[in-house]
Amino acid sequence: MHAEHPTTAVRTREPGTEGCATAVAHPNIALIKYWGKRDERLVLPRTDSLSLTLDVFPTTTRVRLAPGALHDEVTFGGVPAQGEARRRIIAFLELVRERAGLPHRAVVDTENTVPTGAGLASSASGFAALAVAASAAYGLGLDPTALSRLARRGSGSASRSIFGGFAIWHAGRDSDPDPDLGSYAQPVPAGDLDPALVVAVVDAGPKSVSSREAMRRTVDTSPLYRSWAASSEDDLADMQRALLRADLDAVGEIAERNALGMHATMLAARPAVRYLSPATLTVLDSVLQLRRDGVPAYATMDAGPNVKVLCRRTDAHQVAGAVRAAAPGGSVHIAGPGQGAHLLDEAP
Ligand code: DP6
Repeated sequence: MHAEHPTTAVRTREPGTEGCATAVAHPNIALIKYWGKRDERLVLPRTDSLSLTLDVFPTTTRVRLAPGALHDEVTFGGVPAQGEARRRIIAFLELVRERAGLPHRAVVDTENTVPTGAGLASSASGFAALAVAASAAYGLGLDPTALSRLARRGSGSASRSIFGGFAIWHAGRDSDPDPDLGSYAQPVPAGDLDPALVVAVVDAGPKSVSSREAMRRTVDTSPLYRSWAASSEDDLADMQRALLRADLDAVGEIAERNALGMHATMLAARPAVRYLSPATLTVLDSVLQLRRDGVPAYATMDAGPNVKVLCRRTDAHQVAGAVRAAAPGGSVHIAGPGQGAHLLDEAP
């Protein structure tokens, strides 16, 4: 990790300032994917994963306790949250209340700058920001590891957005005395890499199948799942070594094969889950062409058609230009390593 990018920026609040807190968190992109749970309730994954937290698309969440209120009030940019999104946030608040031993309902307002539901990890930044803001508002006083475990209960990938830069999320083991304690993220040591991720949004609409449902279906029905999970373990070990020696080509190659393997498991699910669109494949072709032209660039895709291209920061504009030309209808953003989730000072 380049020295100028802090890996963690979680601060705990001074005692006596509970009641209201605002936190900001950024999405992370997995270079070794999380795909498949072994425990749905505790959100325990089947495999370890590793990601880079970005410096774009922050989510800002404010939590204010409302003693005496009968219900939680949840809004996205001031608009009342609905359906599954609202249900998941309220379930998360219940967990925090149980831990805090406080009955108070809360007013939660979230500002998302990432297109929600487009496979760009808005749930990662969303639940990381909510974990940090809610635990401060309810006075839980958690350290970063405990915040990571808590964020995991909202959305698995959120466990990694608690930390800046590269982070590994340990799956933990069923033999752990308390399986909840064994599954958390932490920063990963990396050499002096200076990476960029060029994010090609080819379709910002909501996805046809939620990642939650898609990973469940993959684990239950895909004959390729087990072999991908086994090879992902090897990918992770290779990735950690590649990061330590700051070998961008190796990091990119491993990330690309891990992501393509994950999508192969989904394509083999019954019925198949196919997030990759014609525009995705056109962008993937442009990445191959960049490599043929001598520019190190490697693609990864999540639960959606959008493509994130890992490259050197010095090549980012050239990569962005190539990707933009390949998918002219979309938008392209250049991201670098970002900070972990942290509290913002409240206006007096
Ligand atoms: C493809 O963290 O959104 O982005 O735990 O069910 O909320 P839940 O899933 P989520 O899944 C992210 C999957 C992924 C890969 C990754 O980020 O590792």
